Amino acid sequence: LLCAAPFVHAQAWPAKPVTWIVPFAAGGPTDAMARDIADKVGRQIGQAIVIENAAGAGGTIGAGKAAKAAPDGYTFLVGHMGYMGAAPSLYKKLGYDPVKDFDAVFRFPDTPLVLLVPKSSPYKSADALIAAAKAAPNKINFGNAGVGSTSHLIAALFESRAGIQVTSVSYKGAAPAMNDLVGGQVDAMFDQSNTALPQVTGGRVNAIALTSLTPMSQQYPGVPALAEKTLPGFEAATWYGLYAPKGVPKDVVGKLHQAYLKALADKEWTHRMAAQGIHLLPDAQYAPESFARHTAAEVEKWRKVATDAKIQID
Ligand code: MLT
Repeated sequence: LLCAAPFVHAQAWPAKPVTWIVPFAAGGPTDAMARDIADKVGRQIGQAIVIENAAGAGGTIGAGKAAKAAPDGYTFLVGHMGYMGAAPSLYKKLGYDPVKDFDAVFRFPDTPLVLLVPKSSPYKSADALIAAAKAAPNKINFGNAGVGSTSHLIAALFESRAGIQVTSVSYKGAAPAMNDLVGGQVDAMFDQSNTALPQVTGGRVNAIALTSLTPMSQQYPGVPALAEKTLPGFEAATWYGLYAPKGVPKDVVGKLHQAYLKALADKEWTHRMAAQGIHLLPDAQYAPESFARHTAAEVEKWRKVATDAKIQID
């Protein structure tokens, strides 16, 4: 009977709604991407996928919660480059290991970022912002979603490459940070394109630079990529994906991965994501094994990057 249990389990899965933990406040880019994909995958597996926002400490609070969840196929983590890539290099006491404590399920598309300033900002370009920061170190405030969040990491790399010092203002997600950017309480922030675009087209903030050349020129006409002139070679995008606590049944991983690939066959959906500036990837890069290798490589890469860029350590 015992040897049949896993098989019976996988056959019955999903027997109830599934939870995906998003470790930032609702309304930010991670939350928006997660809800969009959860809706499509939920339709394929015939069960609701419920998003649980568990914010704090750049996403590491929610990631730690997911690492301790039962590997029963009903709790997952929406991970990204910050708390599943850079965090081991930034936090002395992280409480989880992105590689040892998780099974990679599938990778999401990547999202490049946009350097945003308030509508009333005097900084009309990245060069102007850099010049002002050089003239007055630590005077310019950058909003972010906590130490190790993408908005923090990319701003830290920007600081390091531009040779400037800015002041970081941390929030429980990019959404609350965006509220203060719109209100002019912070001077700038990097936000992923899927949530930056409606704020820019809605005239609530200005986009002054992009972190990637393609395919964002259509979405942000006239806005240069940093790599074009200001910071040659500066290309950045947030990678994301779904993780399960280590030991989740392999059949569950397979069912979720297949459901995701079926959902991606809907060209109306993928064109809508591309229209937000999201970078779709070749299907092979979405696969569990490929995503597991990517995660391990990113943890290693950020050890060096965090040291070189002297990114803030807690
Ligand atoms: C970040 O790392 O900045 C997150 O994407 C913020 C968020 O999704 O709220």
